[in-house]
Amino acid sequence: MVGGLTLGLGAVVAGKKYVHDDDDGRGKYRLDNLTSPNPRPNMMYEWQVYPSPEKGWRYSRVTMDELDGDGRIDKPADKTKRPQLKRYFDENEGQAVDDMWTDIPPVNSQATDRIGYPTQKPVALLERILNASTNAGDVVLDCFAGSGTTAVAARAIDRRWIAVDCGKLAMYTAQRRLLSVTAGAPFDVCHAGLYDNTLLEQLPPAGFRAFTLDLFGCKPEAFSIAGVPMAGRRKGDPVHVFPFDQVDADLDETYIETLHQRIGSQVDQAVYVIVPEARCDPGMFQDIVELGSTRYFLLRVPYSVIELLHERDFQLTSQPSALDQVNDALDAYGFDFIDLPEVDLDVHSQEGKVRVVVNAFHRGGLDPDDAAELDDAGRGDLAMVLVDPNYGEPGFRLAEHHFGEALKKQDWTFEVAHADDATVMLVFIDVFGNELRRVIRQGTIEAQPADADEVAA
Ligand SMILES: C[S@@+](CC[C@H](N)C(=O)[O-])C[C@H]1O[C@@H](n2cnc3c(N)ncnc32)[C@H](O)[C@@H]1O
Repeated sequence: MVGGLTLGLGAVVAGKKYVHDDDDGRGKYRLDNLTSPNPRPNMMYEWQVYPSPEKGWRYSRVTMDELDGDGRIDKPADKTKRPQLKRYFDENEGQAVDDMWTDIPPVNSQATDRIGYPTQKPVALLERILNASTNAGDVVLDCFAGSGTTAVAARAIDRRWIAVDCGKLAMYTAQRRLLSVTAGAPFDVCHAGLYDNTLLEQLPPAGFRAFTLDLFGCKPEAFSIAGVPMAGRRKGDPVHVFPFDQVDADLDETYIETLHQRIGSQVDQAVYVIVPEARCDPGMFQDIVELGSTRYFLLRVPYSVIELLHERDFQLTSQPSALDQVNDALDAYGFDFIDLPEVDLDVHSQEGKVRVVVNAFHRGGLDPDDAAELDDAGRGDLAMVLVDPNYGEPGFRLAEHHFGEALKKQDWTFEVAHADDATVMLVFIDVFGNELRRVIRQGTIEAQPADADEVAA
């Protein structure tokens, strides 16, 4: 995009250099040197009351008189000072931008708008690109949004925008930044997955089964309960795959009730039922059906990656656990599948700060059977902790972050400074992007408040 760009660079410097105006309708101008850079004996002459510069004038006497007649020479009252040429901004044709831009400084370590995201770009740079390539009201899409500079620039110059990033640190950094920029229209944050089920029914049942068991973190294991086939276990509980290739009807409440009549007396609290979204009865709105003491969880599969299933393995999107991974390009398919992690914390409150110790961490979807074998109490799956030391309206505002790798080096401990009566919100993010929120109020950990949105990969 940058390669094909031309624009008047003058526009960029206008505010700084073109500061004079004679109010004669010609607009702003700047003053330029009228002396010759090299010695030119034929240009050494006294002009009006002004003595010749040491190396002579830049123009001949005739040209100087013409310029003067056109009001283009600034003549100081003090004749020991030099006259200067008026260069009008509106007459500046600008110059084609080349591929080396040096007039916009990078965001340096002292910059006031620096937000600490690696590779943060200057807003002025994005404003220039957007000014040159879009009109007010256009929609600007940045698929690798990082700290959200494109969105900030778009807002400032009246463009609409869509910013996309797979990294949670990037997303929350951009959100906080945009919340602190008052100009521009309101915006929404979406945790988007991929939704497309048209190809699903073309998938052979065996492939579907393997894919979805993997997708929902189930362990494949063929067994039956009261003659009903089960395909595996999820966190120890049975997983049944709706036999969409063997029945004409779609899965509805009657199917779950019939299933319950057959297996209900032999199962514990949870049974998972995997079903293609396209084979769910349209009236089946609920995701959890409670019958007796058993909860039947419907795991619907709306994913667009089915087509690619035969070509590559399913892979969860991963989150960076160190600063140098933040800008890694990610080649994976993500899902809007909520799977809360679990965390065991100790909190020690001191005046104005709280010290948090992460004793153990279980990533979302971890099979409890695997928990005992985890190294380092599962904390290696903790990608980062995001912190808002003053949580309240309008929601979580990222103020600081701690990467897993850094936490490991400091014995899984960190401190948060806060005002005495402040509520501290911590967001624990596992390596697959699942989030767990914890609130600390007056030195005590509280369960996630009901009003806090809870998001996963
Ligand atoms: C170089 S940074 C962008 C920096 C941005 N220009 C700024 O001013 O902060 C690249 C971003 O791309 C994101 N990214 C990498 N692979 C991605 C993918 N497949 N989909 C969406 N975002 C991705 C990373 O999380 C990272 O935040």
